[in-house]
Amino acid sequence: MIQIEKLRKVYRSREREVTAVDGVDLTVREGEVFGVLGPSGAGKSTLLRCVNLLDRPDEGRIVIGGRDMLALRGAELRRARQGIGMIHQHFGLLGSRTVAGNVAFPLEVMGVPRSERAARVAELLDLVGLTGHAKAYPAQISGGQKQRVGIARALAGRPKVLLSDEATSALDPETTASILELLRDLNRRLGLTVLLITHEMDVVKRICDSAAVMRDGRFTESGPVTELLARPGSELARGLFPLPAAEPRDGTTLVEVTFVGGATDQPFVSALARKYALDVNILGGAVETVGGERVGRLQLELPGDPSVNAAQLAFLRESGLAVEVRDRATAPARASAAPTTTAAAEEDAR
Ligand SMILES: Nc1ncnc2c1ncn2[C@@H]1O[C@H](COP(=O)(O)OP(=O)(O)OP(=O)(O)O)[C@@H](O)[C@H]1O
Ligand SMILES: [Mg+2]
Repeated sequence: MIQIEKLRKVYRSREREVTAVDGVDLTVREGEVFGVLGPSGAGKSTLLRCVNLLDRPDEGRIVIGGRDMLALRGAELRRARQGIGMIHQHFGLLGSRTVAGNVAFPLEVMGVPRSERAARVAELLDLVGLTGHAKAYPAQISGGQKQRVGIARALAGRPKVLLSDEATSALDPETTASILELLRDLNRRLGLTVLLITHEMDVVKRICDSAAVMRDGRFTESGPVTELLARPGSELARGLFPLPAAEPRDGTTLVEVTFVGGATDQPFVSALARKYALDVNILGGAVETVGGERVGRLQLELPGDPSVNAAQLAFLRESGLAVEVRDRATAPARASAAPTTTAAAEEDAR
């Protein structure tokens, strides 16, 4: 649905040059929810602005629904942009207009006749669960409700693609959950393809089918979430399932296992202990549902150096687990996507 190749965007001013997006390849399949995580300044908003054609990239290709977006001009470009909805962290509502007036605004811009507008506004408000709040002003509704207005407004042009830049960052956890549920629901009911930016691991856990980690303008990892979780060294896996920052003790093997889907049913820890007559120590772990699948990570300590545990490690791998042996030199850093703050606010002012 969205295909991005070798995208590059450089901001130039007299004093400096910033390569905000530095050769990103990205494929978002039709009907999926794709999340981009990364620290502040990584280039996430710039990437989204390029997809939305608010910013023109310096290099690369953007194909959405089979159309080469960068080749479009004038009316064609405007129409294509109507097919892409966008929601923001700070909602960007017009304070002087009612909820209904805010949703009507893009319809007016698109030239939808007045006679059709009211019905379409009602339909959109129903879609986001705001029927009954049509006459309220933004100052009279909650943050979650404001974001629902933002979503209704983004859907006005019946887009196939919805972009979201930190849409839940300003909301409390409960409201975040309800907005994510709404996005998931719209994604399923309307077949919407969603590309979202977030710094919250929970967002990825709850609704993303695929995800990427962005750093210094590049994707450091990218793919279906359950695949990334099982990939050794995945930053996303560490972020979603933080394990103790332990170092292996002398004469032991410290191993992290990740299991996805079917492998969760097997009692592999007890099977390992029985088969090799080992005392397996569980140091940490978590099991959760990610993208509708049971996923878990465990940190285990086995007696003996890794060199004497080759068969044991092979046994774990053969049980369908992703196995990562931690040693002092390769102990992964605990850093995960840092919270983002300032740039998103500027973004909304645009
Ligand atoms: N209009 C602009 N002019 C010049 N530099 C810019 C512009 N927009 C962004 N940048 C720079 O590009 C880099 C990437 O910025 P961007 O806003 O895309 O990051 P981000 O990942 O969205 O960060 P955040 O999580 O804080 O929102 C930063 O170094 C930023 O200073
Ligand atoms: Mg940003």
